[in-house]
Amino acid sequence: TLYSFPNSPALADALATFILKAQKEAIEKKGKFTVALSGGTVPNTLTALIHKHGIKWDKWQIFYVDERVVPLDDPDSNHHLASQTLYKHIHIPAKNIHTIDTTLLDDLEELSDAYEKELIHEFAQKDSARFPIFDLVLLGVGPDGHTASLFPGHELLSEEDRWVAYIEDSPKPPPRRITFTYPVLNHAARVVFVVTGDAKADVLPRILDTPQEGLPAARVRPVTPGQLVWFVDDAASAKVAYA
Ligand code: 6PG
Repeated sequence: TLYSFPNSPALADALATFILKAQKEAIEKKGKFTVALSGGTVPNTLTALIHKHGIKWDKWQIFYVDERVVPLDDPDSNHHLASQTLYKHIHIPAKNIHTIDTTLLDDLEELSDAYEKELIHEFAQKDSARFPIFDLVLLGVGPDGHTASLFPGHELLSEEDRWVAYIEDSPKPPPRRITFTYPVLNHAARVVFVVTGDAKADVLPRILDTPQEGLPAARVRPVTPGQLVWFVDDAASAKVAYA
């Protein structure tokens, strides 16, 4: 499903309504709402949630789809970004926000293993599923078609086992990152891409109209009954035939 909006505020408002509905369904079913958040412009589009009636922040469990391997107060940190745009305006228990373990910044393997364990702790006891089933995964797209920290041509595109992996050569700075893998993205109940601005106009048709090209974002295909939804603005979707 693709929803297109004339501008960012209209998109943000509709996204907030979508998220509220997803939250209600998840809480009714299991008493919590598990969310994976990207960096870049995505957190900014969530600010409409701040004043939305009915958001139960204390029931949210927030993880990061990908994280830059820097201290949590570094301007490059996705957690820092989410703190500035969202957390500092709401009341959410610190224990509900799952950050990377910054004592492990020097060892990428340990760091990504530790984050995977954090996921196992949250999800495994529930149904001992082989992969976590997030209620909501929020993704962005880069002009090169990357999503999360899964970049075109990278070996991680074929990762089938690990839930969390690291890279040392991200073309988008900073180079050292950890990222969820496709098995995690594709087992979510809802994957939502949020894409705005004309810098994405050339890449969106390559993802949506010619997915066979295999750009990283086009490889996100949630397994049934997972939902895949795109929230885009007119500038980003200007060249998409499908829109
Ligand atoms: C990151 C992101 C990354 C981002 C896209 C889109 O940490 O860099 O998680 O995957 O979502 O690069 O970024 P923009 O929304 O800023 O274009």
